[in-house]
Amino acid sequence: MTHRMLCCCNMSTVRDGPKLAAASSRLWGGRFLSGPNAVAEHFGSSLRHDRRLWAVDLQGSRAYARALARCGLLTSQQLHEIEQGLEKVEAEWANGSIEELPHDEDIHSINERRLKEVIGEVAGMLHTGRSRNDQVVTDLRIWMRNSIDEVQSLLWLLIHNMVSRAATDIDLLFPGYTHMQRAQPVRWSHWIMGHAVALCRDADRLSELLCRTNVLPLGSGAIAGNPFNIDREFLRKELGFYSISLNSIDATGDRDFVVEYLFWASLLMLHLSRLAGDVILFCSVEFGFVSLDDAYSTGSSLMPQKKNPDSLELVRAMAGRLYGRLTGFMMQLKGISSGYSKDLQEDKEAVFDCHDTVRNVLHVITGVISTLKVNPEAMHDALSPEMLATDLAYYLVRKGVPFRKAHDLAGKAVILAEFQHIPLNQMSLEALRHVSPLFDQDVLAVWNFEHSVEQYKAAGGTSRSSVLQQITKLRQWLDSTFKESNVTPGDMISSNGKKDGEKAKPSASPHS
Ligand code: ARG
Repeated sequence: MTHRMLCCCNMSTVRDGPKLAAASSRLWGGRFLSGPNAVAEHFGSSLRHDRRLWAVDLQGSRAYARALARCGLLTSQQLHEIEQGLEKVEAEWANGSIEELPHDEDIHSINERRLKEVIGEVAGMLHTGRSRNDQVVTDLRIWMRNSIDEVQSLLWLLIHNMVSRAATDIDLLFPGYTHMQRAQPVRWSHWIMGHAVALCRDADRLSELLCRTNVLPLGSGAIAGNPFNIDREFLRKELGFYSISLNSIDATGDRDFVVEYLFWASLLMLHLSRLAGDVILFCSVEFGFVSLDDAYSTGSSLMPQKKNPDSLELVRAMAGRLYGRLTGFMMQLKGISSGYSKDLQEDKEAVFDCHDTVRNVLHVITGVISTLKVNPEAMHDALSPEMLATDLAYYLVRKGVPFRKAHDLAGKAVILAEFQHIPLNQMSLEALRHVSPLFDQDVLAVWNFEHSVEQYKAAGGTSRSSVLQQITKLRQWLDSTFKESNVTPGDMISSNGKKDGEKAKPSASPHS
């Protein structure tokens, strides 16, 4: 078809064509002859999930209006009107008076509609060169940056409490378990620090992913970019982003930063679920090493004696839900075309659930750990002599026996003791000599749990000096982290970890 013919066709379509509707109340109504089916409209709406983006959406709009004014697309009067209008809409959200209508498809639509109702047609200029595609991902990145800020502070607070606990409880020994069987005596503080250092790596990972999250997409339009030479560096500074996205298709069409965040949360929850799993076991009557504060336990409606570690069981379960969020969202992304598709709208449910879960879990775990009561007698009573069989082998090693041989001989001593129905440390020297003539009077020194633990002086071990070294390292890391972020543990407790302003990057933990 030639250009001329096309023109003719168009002309006749205009003459004979459908009656055009009056200006639509929807953002995209122009090319439609009728409105959507009510069920389909509700089905496609994301307002019930994304209304919590209201403040960051207005923040993004304010910055965009200023950028439009800078490139001459808004007069200063128009900018003033838009800014005043945005302020009014903000106040309505803040005092709960904003009215949501069935046509409001998402947070961007409702804010735009309300702005237009407040200031009139000039509101329509705000969307010049902007698409909801770059708008939504800008909002989400700002929101997530704030979320990262909050959960990072809560995570530091938890680590801080664990380290304090480890320092206070440094004298306590208890069984270390491998395969969930008694293995070797360790310091209780060593166990605490074992969990704390894993959480430090989670904190590191979170600051690393912040760098990839805090990137400005605004100015990418729907897919092709911005045709009005908008100053993206200005937008970056206005909105506090670290850097500017490099490619508009990628900026609007990818959600890898969401996947990273969901993975981060999953890994954190994995660590916390293992901590919870340990404590659940340790507070059972069978172990009795610790008891949970009443504030973090519940009773049974039938059995009056029960005190259940529900809060920790929920931590364990919620880890599973977050893995579902991660894998579910990855499945939603898999194979979709590179530009924006509505599939991406589902990102927010996953992110919000993830944020709420992690925040609540961190509050609860911090409470559980800082109020946990330890039972030193139960810990001590659980240390049994056969846990010193390795020390018996080391005794022989120190007398020149190759370790494999020493291991075998110590194993023979264990089986002899079992045969005689006596604890390993009750074997007579004569019986031990039967196993190896190298055993002497000084073997008695082996039967001491404190001595056993104190052998592990090499860095990372369970001796007092090694554990104190771990405590010192984490304290130094926490100190520099708190200093750089202008947060103190006291602040975090009083403000629930929320603080304003741009996120400062903490230094890498000693375990990264
Ligand atoms: N509510 C949408 C979302 O969350 C906003 C972007 C809509 N863009 C579009 N072209 N329909 O993803």
